[in-house]
Amino acid sequence: MQTPVDLAQQLTRWGFGQALPSLVFTSRARNGDLQGQVVKRTTRSQDLPLDLFDQIRAAGPFAVEKIAHTTARLDVVREVLASPDVAVGQFTPDQSPFVRAASWAARSAPVGPITPPSLLAVEPPDHTRMRKLVTRVFTVRAVERLRGRTEQIAGELLDEMERRRRAGQPVDLIESYAAPLPVTVICEILGVPQRHQADVLRFGNLAAPSLDFGLPLRRFRQVEGALREFEQWLTEHIERLRREPGDDLFSQLVAARDDDGQPLTDVELRSTAGLVLAAGFETTVNLIGNATALLDQHREQREALLAGDAQWSVAVDEALRHDPPVLLTARTTIRDTEIAGVPIRRNRPIVTLLAAANRDPEVFTDPDRFDVHRDNAADHISFSSGRHYCLGAALARMEGDVALRALRERYPGLRVDHERARRRNTRILRGYAALPVVLEP
Ligand code: HEM
Repeated sequence: MQTPVDLAQQLTRWGFGQALPSLVFTSRARNGDLQGQVVKRTTRSQDLPLDLFDQIRAAGPFAVEKIAHTTARLDVVREVLASPDVAVGQFTPDQSPFVRAASWAARSAPVGPITPPSLLAVEPPDHTRMRKLVTRVFTVRAVERLRGRTEQIAGELLDEMERRRRAGQPVDLIESYAAPLPVTVICEILGVPQRHQADVLRFGNLAAPSLDFGLPLRRFRQVEGALREFEQWLTEHIERLRREPGDDLFSQLVAARDDDGQPLTDVELRSTAGLVLAAGFETTVNLIGNATALLDQHREQREALLAGDAQWSVAVDEALRHDPPVLLTARTTIRDTEIAGVPIRRNRPIVTLLAAANRDPEVFTDPDRFDVHRDNAADHISFSSGRHYCLGAALARMEGDVALRALRERYPGLRVDHERARRRNTRILRGYAALPVVLEP
């Protein structure tokens, strides 16, 4: 039962975390801030605002505006993300009333994918310790071992799609393939027993929007409710895995010890599982959908892939570069510093536009062209960079490779119904809500 204090704290969290940023961006966009306009434009249509990216890049290493320093240059984005002088989240060392209210409200917050102690919300030394342990389990070899199982899952989903095709039923690629594939793989990584998979899918679906911002209050409350339910389920799940470890990666993480013999705490384990689940729900699905739509628009490139004249792994990277699942990330300076030769004061937000850096003409020739033959496609920054570089990058690449290849091998003539395709209305996450396809063997 939610007490009046819990409710007040939840409303404060929503105000500071969702409503306020939305208001700030809207008002700054109205005042001509480029960064505010980027967020507004991408929310409305999800078409990348390439003209704004060019304007920001033309302003120098950073476009310096009221809200933030914003960068669209790949070298500068890398420098920001590697800097020891920046941190994830907001850094406000003084005890202003704002900070005091925010920490009061955080007391009753559920563990979420972007709140501490999530890897995405902590910095060294905690981040280093946690990340080292998670990396020990999440190795490239461990991911490669999942390839066979991923192929099997893709095959089963395609069989089901074929059944629908034969029955004359419409097929939405997101619902039938792009979403269930990564989610099933994540459930296996987390060692979710078959009988609990439907529950976990429900938590994931409800909680996943927590990776974005600007949620309406009702949705925010739903998200927090699902996070709480998931946390409760995880508490029991971790107990179960301690008693009877499986051969899944999460069982290994539960048992892992650092050099001092210390395991991850229960809340760190729950938070890591939550982040992995949310990432599985919200990002790889977009990669598969965005790449399918792009390949649909480029017949010769599709044919080159099917004929073996181009590599699927390059196509995956090129899709990640051209239409990235994550628009941007942000940091705050924790001391006065200088980045890319620009002095920046302490406590200043820096927005790194990943999607814009991927179109940096200094790095990518003819950057707006989608080209599966591009020899430096993998130089994109869609998985971020520096100490928060995506831990799931190898997994996402493997899943993208398997999913795209299996789909096109089964249906070389597949066509996307672009008229009826619908982009999502999220701000930072970019992908399709629906991608109706016509299946032709
Ligand atoms: C195409 C798919 C994916 C994309 C585009 C993507 C993108 C990203 C980005 C941009 C970040 C860093 C954000 C920042 O620097 O602020 C990140 C971090 C992370 N991602 Fe992914 N991700 C994907 C798939 C996955 C998957 C499948 C997993 C699950 C294993 C995953 C797990 C993580 C984790 C745990 C972090 C936090 C790392 C840290 O802070 O140290 N990601 N991802």
